[in-house]
Amino acid sequence: MNIIVTGGSGFLGCNLAKKFLSKGHHVTTLDINVSKYKFRKEILKKTKFFKTNITSIESLKKVKVKPNSVLLHCAGQPSAALSFKNPQDDLKKNILGMINIINFASMKKIKKIVFASSFNVYQENKLTPKLKETSNCDPKSLLSISKFAAENYLKIYASHLNIKWNILRMFNVYGPGQDPNNPNLGMISIFLNMAKNNPTLNVKGSLKRFRDFIYIDDVVEAWYKIALDKKNFNKIYNLGSGSKVTLIQLFKIISDTINKKLNIKVRKGTPGDFLGCYSDISKIKKDLKFFPKTNLKIGLKKFDIWLDENKK
Ligand SMILES: NC(=O)c1ccc[n+]([C@@H]2O[C@H](COP(=O)([O-])OP(=O)(O)OC[C@H]3O[C@@H](n4cnc5c(N)ncnc54)[C@H](O)[C@@H]3O)[C@@H](O)[C@H]2O)c1
Repeated sequence: MNIIVTGGSGFLGCNLAKKFLSKGHHVTTLDINVSKYKFRKEILKKTKFFKTNITSIESLKKVKVKPNSVLLHCAGQPSAALSFKNPQDDLKKNILGMINIINFASMKKIKKIVFASSFNVYQENKLTPKLKETSNCDPKSLLSISKFAAENYLKIYASHLNIKWNILRMFNVYGPGQDPNNPNLGMISIFLNMAKNNPTLNVKGSLKRFRDFIYIDDVVEAWYKIALDKKNFNKIYNLGSGSKVTLIQLFKIISDTINKKLNIKVRKGTPGDFLGCYSDISKIKKDLKFFPKTNLKIGLKKFDIWLDENKK
């Protein structure tokens, strides 16, 4: 199959490219940047890479792809903190970027778009923090506004143009390939890197928060299944581990993994940040026979080893 991955230089995009290449598919990647990381560069070299800006339809028009490809849309502005620092940039990359991708898909006769959305689109529900696809959506950060708008453009505009779509609302993804030096993205990569290299763990927001952490190989497996699936198009799926983990529990696992006592300092949180939520994954289990395999202790250990082996 012909697969197009937008955001191919990023954490998720390069791991998706690696998976599809390993299964013998032809992979085209698009990104505004060529990654500076060796791990990501090695993967991109094996794909047909186009340096492309998704906010410009002219830039997208130069990309050559085969009809009937499946497009995995991972390019965009992914940080809630940065969405408050530069809302225009967030809007351009996430909303205009999505409209351009749909037009590009129509122009190139792409058969399906799978979109990397986020649990952030949901309304925080303190009474029922286990979220289903039918739970209320009520964006509270600027990132979640743009993600939710992009979801709606995809549902309505892609359907109007007869392009199939799926939306994957991912929870907190972590693991090999993630950038440990990015202070704005990836709770586990931020805390694990900080714990390994600093005397103090600076935590932005309450220690009472809880999350659903899912290992990258599990995430990639779900994307693989949905890309090849022929029955369950035009549906939204939660993509998480289905387990609730508090920050206190996470820090205990990090401390055990790296064998170091952590000195924790709590700072002001990011606006719109949830106290807690985790995923109900019964829909994706039923429809796609997707079952996450990696528990947090094992995933963290693997990630820690990978970080040591891949220091720049
Ligand atoms: N990592 C997570 O835990 C997580 C959770 C939920 C949703 N997501 C979503 O998944 C997607 C990928 O996340 P990630 O962790 O790989 O982020 P990432 O920052 O590593 O990757 C995003 C990629 O998009 C590219 N990009 C940005 N603007 C672009 C533009 N104008 N044109 C072309 N490329 C552009 C970047 O260069 C980068 O390589 C994001 O949309 C994010 O919101 C991620």
